[in-house]
Amino acid sequence: MSNIDHLIWGVTTAAAQTEGGFNADGRGLSIWDTFTNKPKSIKDKSNNQVATNFYERYREDIDLSVKIGLKIFRFSISWSRVLPNGSGVINEKGIAFYNKVIDYCIEVGIEPWITTYHWDLPQKLQDKGGWKNRDIITDYENYIKVLKLYFVDRVKNWILINEAIVCIGAGYFLGIHAPGKRGIKSFSASIHHILLAQARGYRVLKGKKDIKIGTAISCTKIESHSKRKKDLRAASRIDALMNRLCIEPYIGLGYPENELPLVKRIKRFVQQGDMEEMKVDFDFWGIQTYAREVVKSAWYIPYLGSIPVKPSKRKAPVSIMGWETYPDGIQYFLERFSIYDSEKPLWLTECGMALSEKEDDAKRIEYYTHIIEGMKKVSDQEINLKGILLWTLVDNFEWAEGYIPKFGIIGMDKITLNRKMKKTAFWLKDYLSNRSG
Ligand code: NOJ
Repeated sequence: MSNIDHLIWGVTTAAAQTEGGFNADGRGLSIWDTFTNKPKSIKDKSNNQVATNFYERYREDIDLSVKIGLKIFRFSISWSRVLPNGSGVINEKGIAFYNKVIDYCIEVGIEPWITTYHWDLPQKLQDKGGWKNRDIITDYENYIKVLKLYFVDRVKNWILINEAIVCIGAGYFLGIHAPGKRGIKSFSASIHHILLAQARGYRVLKGKKDIKIGTAISCTKIESHSKRKKDLRAASRIDALMNRLCIEPYIGLGYPENELPLVKRIKRFVQQGDMEEMKVDFDFWGIQTYAREVVKSAWYIPYLGSIPVKPSKRKAPVSIMGWETYPDGIQYFLERFSIYDSEKPLWLTECGMALSEKEDDAKRIEYYTHIIEGMKKVSDQEINLKGILLWTLVDNFEWAEGYIPKFGIIGMDKITLNRKMKKTAFWLKDYLSNRSG
């Protein structure tokens, strides 16, 4: 087997899941502050007002990352911390916080990576329709200009939108994430606007030569329940929605309308010149994958015509998220993305496993070991894999699931919020320090 010691290891975190400090130092509210107040929105009735208190404990988390041997610390910016109204007046204290995070990373020798949008839209922008309103494209563009102005001198790697399909699918179609909107119209408008906004953001940042700009794409392996034509068609529909919709327009392939009829609905929001504007050549693609889904045709499900076959019915290993645990997806998607472009730098910008409070952390080690094997298998092929960022450092606020799933390689005491390295963190530390690279 091949050597993958050159791969760079890091970690991914997100503002809404970790920062807390929801009203500290002039921060404006985000859609998650509003959403968590709605009854029954979060499984354990929790919210993210304090979360892991990264706002005050960022040094400790960055130190722990360094101690483990990680080289990249990816965090996201809370839009309403820097622009409390979403646009207009800049909150200098918000900027100061991110300056501290960036400077501290540099001081202790770990590279800061920024995600500009990890699902926490300023509530003030949601009040105007959020991603559904085309004006948001300009708001996002202006927000990126602010981030560029303050941070581009020290941050060399940027991820614009994190998992557009999950953000808009869960938040504007199913209504299970903030802002809790539902329906095809809301989805179709919002997905087009967020994807176009991302292209705009790219153009704003691109002016600077020495920086790398990427996108983080949610990837779920989709398989058909049977070889019947209608199941196969259902699988290719869902695959187009989940795995192609948010990448192919940038490559110039447009939306996958042959396989996915709902593209017709999206096209109602496409204006002249949009598809041309969407063609941007990201410096890297970030792949994020956790699960596999098996689907079968279901004529009664509007727009998608398909339902998933639950992992428990297929005797597949399932995590506390209810997802099939599927580390092989990494190899699958690395191979698949390199068919688009074998030279494009690829990063695994998220991968991880949720365990319950009681489960043995050894399972997570097994999971990451499997991922390492998968990366080795592809390393002989023409795949330009650069590195891997784990999801995630400290157990945190897992959106609508609250604090129940534990994705961290570091645990956190519920009351004191003190951090404690789990078995996986020690294992990883050993693995990284024994490499030859
Ligand atoms: C992807 C998302 O980016 C992250 O926010 C989330 O916590 C993980 N998946 C696990 O669900």
